[in-house]
Amino acid sequence: MIVRDLKRLTLLVGPLVILLLLSASLWHSHNDYLRSHVSSLLGYNGPSSVARVHRKPVLTADKKHYEMFSASTPDGKFFDIRFGKDVFNPNMIPHPKFNDTWFIVGQLWNDPNVEIPDSHAHEVGCIAQFMNGVLMCIDYIQALPIEATSTDKCEGDMAYISFNVGPHDARVFMGPLSPFIIYGSNGGFTCFSQWVQDFRKLVDWEYELWTPTEFAVGTELARPPPFFQLEKNYFMFWDKDDEMHIHYDVYPKRGFSKLERDGKVGPNLAPKTTEHDEKCLKRYMPELPGSLESIHQATNSLKITLCKRADKDCEAHAGNTYIMTVIQHKSYYNYHSEYEPYVVLFQQRAPFELYAISKKPIWISGRKRHEGRKTDMMYVTSANWMDRGVNYHGYLDDVVVLGFGYEDRHSAGIDILAGDLLHDMGLCEEPEES
Ligand SMILES: *[C@@H]1O[C@H](CO)[C@@H](O)[C@H](O)[C@H]1NC(C)=O
Repeated sequence: MIVRDLKRLTLLVGPLVILLLLSASLWHSHNDYLRSHVSSLLGYNGPSSVARVHRKPVLTADKKHYEMFSASTPDGKFFDIRFGKDVFNPNMIPHPKFNDTWFIVGQLWNDPNVEIPDSHAHEVGCIAQFMNGVLMCIDYIQALPIEATSTDKCEGDMAYISFNVGPHDARVFMGPLSPFIIYGSNGGFTCFSQWVQDFRKLVDWEYELWTPTEFAVGTELARPPPFFQLEKNYFMFWDKDDEMHIHYDVYPKRGFSKLERDGKVGPNLAPKTTEHDEKCLKRYMPELPGSLESIHQATNSLKITLCKRADKDCEAHAGNTYIMTVIQHKSYYNYHSEYEPYVVLFQQRAPFELYAISKKPIWISGRKRHEGRKTDMMYVTSANWMDRGVNYHGYLDDVVVLGFGYEDRHSAGIDILAGDLLHDMGLCEEPEES
């Protein structure tokens, strides 16, 4: 359990933390430091409480990206997520009860040069709030109680994977009613499978009436052939009737199926739209020169209606509501990976064809360029609505928070207005410019 009782913890730990902050303030001797920490403990330091001018996306100097800015940080740059240890591949979803409070989950970084006897990847998490512009744990970081699984399906150069223990690369996200986690673990169906579980079973989600539970225990997800020994990055999506589906792949061919409550999957539905989708992907995604570059799925999905919640006549309907996800173009040169994220929209009803793709990838404000070709490696892993209660379905004036790993060792996030994230989308149906 992440926290048995947040209130009790606050009562116990609150005075101690204030004492600590008082002594820290002596070191820092800045009144502001103390004020911001105490006020954040009292809940007045949510990112949204900072009034600032909205910065629209701008084309970068090399015209290859759109730089996108945080809706809350004073300088518009991304913020750090601190677990108190080296953790990457972060996810954040709003706490079901408290404003300005999130569950954060990520993967513990293991130093490859230090041999620890039972060292294996752990998915860990905590409850977090913003303090001085950094999202950090306000309770102890704990391993998610996910059972390790074993496999006899690893063959050839994948044989080493059978030695993996426990969950990897988890994605935590909201469905229409409740949160889920998808993670990689050794499989019975293939060597390294994707698994799904009701996230409420892993943390203390006590403040919400229980809705019917899908995947009360970790459930392996099969997929129709062709599949690989190592399966990664699946995401779930819900159609216009809130029926569950699972999306396996986006490039060079999409793959997705209906998902049943017992984890069984239907046939691959993608062939019905292959022709349309391949044309659209080819048009907006870069050409891949060779095996050092690839395009793959990155985040979970969200549903978005393309008008503003605040507008009186904004109403969700089939013609303005889509499934949104982020995919990444990866390049790997000189032993260094770089990822360029693109937003993808597709229809929320059969045959779920692609609707639009970002014309240029997103440059997360704060990402740096170094000498030569190299830029910071930022690997986007999750996209969730920032605010409590939005769950799966948001609007252009809601804020999306992207979680990303930083050089495979640290975690950070950026909260971007959904309308900005969809800046300059290329429609699949748009006539080609001559
Ligand atoms: C939480 O946020 C919502 C929306 O901004 C607001 O209406 C509500 O009063 C807040 N609740 C508390 C306890 O601050």
